[in-house]
Amino acid sequence: MKRLNIAELLQSDNFLQEITINGWVRTFRANRFIALNDGSTLQNIQCVVDFENTEESILKRITTGAAVRITGELVESQGKGQKVEIKVNAITILGDSDPEKYPIQPKKHSFEFLRENAHLRTRTNTFSAVMRLRSSLSYAIHKYFNENGFYYVHTPIITGSDAEGAGEMFRVSSLDNENLPKNDEGKVDYTKDFFGKETNLTVSGQLEAETYAMSLGKVYTFGPTFRAENSNTSRHLSEFWMIEPEVAFMDLAGNMDLAEDFMKFVIGYVLENNQEDLVFLDKRLQDEEKTKPQAERSEMTLIEKLKFVVDNNFKRVSYTEAIDILRNSKPNKKKKFQYLIQEWGADLQSEHERFLVEKHFKCPVILFDYPANIKAFYMRLNEDGKTVRAMDIRFPGICEIVGGAQREERLEVLKEKMAVLGIEEEELWWYLDLRRFGSAVHSGFGLGFERLVMFATGMGNIRDVIPFPRTPQNAEF
Ligand code: 4AD
Ligand code: MG
Repeated sequence: MKRLNIAELLQSDNFLQEITINGWVRTFRANRFIALNDGSTLQNIQCVVDFENTEESILKRITTGAAVRITGELVESQGKGQKVEIKVNAITILGDSDPEKYPIQPKKHSFEFLRENAHLRTRTNTFSAVMRLRSSLSYAIHKYFNENGFYYVHTPIITGSDAEGAGEMFRVSSLDNENLPKNDEGKVDYTKDFFGKETNLTVSGQLEAETYAMSLGKVYTFGPTFRAENSNTSRHLSEFWMIEPEVAFMDLAGNMDLAEDFMKFVIGYVLENNQEDLVFLDKRLQDEEKTKPQAERSEMTLIEKLKFVVDNNFKRVSYTEAIDILRNSKPNKKKKFQYLIQEWGADLQSEHERFLVEKHFKCPVILFDYPANIKAFYMRLNEDGKTVRAMDIRFPGICEIVGGAQREERLEVLKEKMAVLGIEEEELWWYLDLRRFGSAVHSGFGLGFERLVMFATGMGNIRDVIPFPRTPQNAEF
């Protein structure tokens, strides 16, 4: 007999004679009703124990958190609240739980508390729903690229180059910290290190992905990336997952079209396939919103926000237009912004982005053509000589979710840019080779996976959408 999980059982129409099911006890009430969950769905299945014919010693061990195996019959429910239930014939305690010490009690826990118990938090409704959605989004991402002719490339995690040129990297080394080899100049001699050079954990797979785009045409990476930036915010992780498509012969306009189409697809996918979890998370968010002052509450529910993204065009705005809007905005004139926008060239802070996305346009916004000096070295310089073909996508409530660009494909222009920024040609000789042999227009972007999961689940803190968050001063589990 095939063993069904609870999700499958609840969908089966015919009542089954004898079934076996495994799961964890959520609650046990009146020595009779077990609410059993196995993670396959948000729903528990009610298992009705014949307590008169069950040993007292077994009944005592049916406690919240215990793992059990139940054999019984799927029958029409006698009570309200569920269509079917299991009439228990036999119950085996697979793993006891100490009800006094089990951290996940059948009551509301704070997210902070659950973060400290991240190894058990997916036994709650909220976190199981979030993680099922995360899994589904990840599947939808692969599905989109697979159906659109992209190849999946596994770019390296250990790297000798700094893709973003920001120097916020974690060193990978096998040198003895207590006894570091020194060179003639008295500096650490990395030629003695494991790889014979300085290496780090990657901040982005883009540069390597570019080499594959320039041979396979359309590729994407989807892997972990690491940033040693000391930003303790609700939107930053030190280890996060990034999706990076890269396409040969595609310009910035094509890049924006791709990003928009792709994001609509993956959000549309979960709207269609994760209804049950989304309805639950929607309700959760509505309850949370009720605790906020009226002015800060969102005008849309979670599901409305997701549908809005799928059904509406993203607004495309150049950096220059954005600066004009911001300079003339009320909060700028009334000096409400912490960083006032005075002139062209200013870097946009999250207060400015939030104003544009949440107050002014009220929809996802693609900002493009940024000043060259506030963007990475690899972006294509425009004819004006001062802006680059960058594009960032901002979502309401999330701020930056995507960062990308058309890449500089001209060897001389790229070399000049690297020289100005002090990036050694020897370090990126292979990247420059792409511009020496068969160079062509190409573009790509990076989508922060956890920011997407935040948007799709309505969770407010990035630490709650990744199984085991890594942040400054925290790498538990
Ligand atoms: O804008 P970023 O830094 O772009 C790149 O790394 C490019 N090389 C991507 C490319 O063009 N292939 O990062 C891309 C996205 C951001 O928009 C954001 O969503 C996410 O990655 N991100 C983070 N997410 C969580 N924690 C952090 N510390 C993040 N830093 C960036
Ligand atoms: Mg960025």
